[in-house]
Amino acid sequence: PVSVPTICGMPLKYVSLVTLAVQNAALTLIMHYSRVSAAPSETYSAAGAVLLTELLKGSISLVVAFTRIDAPAQYPGLAPVSQWSPWAVLCRSRRLVREVFRADCWKLSIPAILYVIQNNLQFVAVSNLDAATFQVSYQMKILTTAAFSVLLLRRTLSPTKWLALLFLAIGVGIVQIQNGSGSSSSSGSSMHDMNAVKGFMAVVAACFTSGLAGVYFEMVLKNSQADLWVRNVQLSLFSLLPALAAIIFSGPSSASTSPLGWFSTNIFANFGAWAWATVLVQVLGGLLTALVIKYADNILKGFATSLSIVISFMASVALFNFHMSLTFVLGSTVVLVATWMYNQPDPITSVTGGARQDS
Ligand code: C5P
Repeated sequence: PVSVPTICGMPLKYVSLVTLAVQNAALTLIMHYSRVSAAPSETYSAAGAVLLTELLKGSISLVVAFTRIDAPAQYPGLAPVSQWSPWAVLCRSRRLVREVFRADCWKLSIPAILYVIQNNLQFVAVSNLDAATFQVSYQMKILTTAAFSVLLLRRTLSPTKWLALLFLAIGVGIVQIQNGSGSSSSSGSSMHDMNAVKGFMAVVAACFTSGLAGVYFEMVLKNSQADLWVRNVQLSLFSLLPALAAIIFSGPSSASTSPLGWFSTNIFANFGAWAWATVLVQVLGGLLTALVIKYADNILKGFATSLSIVISFMASVALFNFHMSLTFVLGSTVVLVATWMYNQPDPITSVTGGARQDS
């Protein structure tokens, strides 16, 4: 069992869960605002934001992994963490490089590509849907995670969990009906035309990649003893190439021949404070996800996401003039109840909402 550290006397487990709930809600709102508040011609590159997120997250994970490298028997010269002599740093670096490029590192390329696709689709979805509608629809990833767990991990779901999944689909359906009918209004001052069908298709596709990537990541973690932070570094490393490809295929092609010119045209154009806020909150989310998986579990992670729906609703009403219709409240309540039902502990088999676990 993992020993749970504390922050100011509070278990890190609960601190990370509550922070993840707030982060989830904040990300949706900030991302939505950053995309719809500017004129379309002044919109920043979503693909660029995804690349910057991976670069930042990967760098932070690298530093954490570096400080966590143990002094194994095969490296007798390796000094404890507190010692930062050039020799200790060299030994640690060598050990870390070997860990990151271990023989099975290629396995992370699959979830890395899927997460890059998911993170790009998230921008499309959030730009075309109300923040709250996006948040509710995104709960469908529980459905896809369950489907891939059954398909790939050969897990069985209890009747309660199947019922919860049915409720989830019904709840999302209700929210979409009201969204399609145009009874909700958000971003009244928006300069963007939001296309609900496009947004919903993007959410469905993002849920698909989320489920597949999560289950695949779980398979990789469970079949090895590698440190979670090393896995995060590998994930970010393998994300770089597809993230760059997304910029090349999506952005305005830069005529600049210098790397600096290319970066400023394709990534940093219109990259204002809100774009940076989106990147930072996304980075925080990635790191929190890792902490929650380590010190709490996926069942609690599901609750944190549910909590973020409520936070998003409240903030959408206050910030984006979002009108909560009766169908929206009904659909969201069904989704919340379904999430709660799905996350009830299974007495026989333990099938969890999210699919990532760390050994
Ligand atoms: O729960 P969900 O599938 O939505 O979370 C996926 C998000 O978490 C993606 O943005 C992904 O890049 C990030 N992630 C991460 N590190 C992990 C696993 C996921 O940053 N180890």
